[in-house]
Amino acid sequence: MSKHPLLPTLNEISLFESLKNEFGTPSYIYFGDRIKSNLSRLNKAITSHFHTSHVCYALKANTNPHLISFMKQHLPTLGGDCSSPGELFAAQSSGIDLKECIYTGNYESTDDLIAAMDSGSTINLDDQSSLDRLLKIGTPNKISFRVNPGFGKGRFSQITTAGDKAKFGIPKESIVDAYRAAQKSGINQFGLQCMAGSGVLDQTYFDTLITAILEIARNIELELDFQFEFISMGGGFGIPYHDEDPELDIDALFKSISNIFYSYYPDRKKAPALWIEPGKYIIGDAGVLLASVTGIKKSYKTFIGTDAGMETLMRPALYNAYQRIYKIGEVEAKLSQTVDITGRICENTDRLAVDRLFPFVKENDLLAVMDVGAYGFSMSHQFNNRPRPAEILMEGFIPRLIRRRETIKDLFKTCEI
Ligand SMILES: Cc1ncc(COP(=O)(O)O)c(C=O)c1O
Repeated sequence: MSKHPLLPTLNEISLFESLKNEFGTPSYIYFGDRIKSNLSRLNKAITSHFHTSHVCYALKANTNPHLISFMKQHLPTLGGDCSSPGELFAAQSSGIDLKECIYTGNYESTDDLIAAMDSGSTINLDDQSSLDRLLKIGTPNKISFRVNPGFGKGRFSQITTAGDKAKFGIPKESIVDAYRAAQKSGINQFGLQCMAGSGVLDQTYFDTLITAILEIARNIELELDFQFEFISMGGGFGIPYHDEDPELDIDALFKSISNIFYSYYPDRKKAPALWIEPGKYIIGDAGVLLASVTGIKKSYKTFIGTDAGMETLMRPALYNAYQRIYKIGEVEAKLSQTVDITGRICENTDRLAVDRLFPFVKENDLLAVMDVGAYGFSMSHQFNNRPRPAEILMEGFIPRLIRRRETIKDLFKTCEI
């Protein structure tokens, strides 16, 4: 249970006023020091407990190339987890060697598979039918399959990505057949991948998950007489979104799963490498959405309207997700009213917060929506023809514009007018 690590910064009203004056609102602000400390903590935990490991940053969380190259500078071994040709492009333009990437598609088109093949990344297939499509293009040396172990766990049902309702992965009952088909086609190096859900804060769950993956891995190895080069347990390492949420003890987590891992592969030097694909854990709590209050309405409920809405940040409307929101300069202010915080979109689901206790605010006050570094900008869109916001990276207290705000003209630049 903890207050947000960036909370003290939110009282620096002059900093946020100057960001507003220079770059406008709404804007995504990323704090570089937090990205660095998240990366260091995670990398230290995995490398202290695993003989061989590889961290693939899940680009879907945030594909700003400047942010990714900032991560890469801090952790030069960083690879990428890409799920589309666009994400491969972002990884490459950020200085990530695509050979250090895993490409996990689902229901991939032939064009997707051609892009994945050309990239040289490790192709992680979601189904045996994907293998059939891939083999029409060529035969890679190495692949992995994504297994669905029959259960998953996520912060919300919508981000639980395994189990009998999930659209992802190959059921564990059919996975041996998939590898057998791959072996027959001439592929001779293999990994096994599983991504069972996002935003998990229950440490013991990761023990359960790795045990299930290892049981499946050993069974495939015994049936088909090969050894995996790597096992990827995906991402899913959660961050607190509420003050009451626990924080993952990431060192204890990796210590515990390494004990399980090496009980299946006692010779550490010859064991498969452990790969992970974290998104949220690296960038989630390093991002703040800065928004201005545009209007206040007392209706059947009290609404605080801002220039950021569901088009700027989808998570609340999409998953009913909770994001902490503070008034800049007054983070400890008395919570004097119950409000909904909304944007300017013509949809009634356009809410950043519902029935939230909030301090008194007036038009033009600045608000900070927390924990938006992951799945914030990357899920933003242009509904109602609202241009997408600017992105700014703070290195210490020095701001750098890393994506300019879109203009209305940008929205129409691909149209014949
Ligand atoms: C295949 C895969 N890997 C990694 C991730 C990253 O998950 P997270 O941001 O929870 O770490 C996702 C997210 O959905 C994913 O689908």
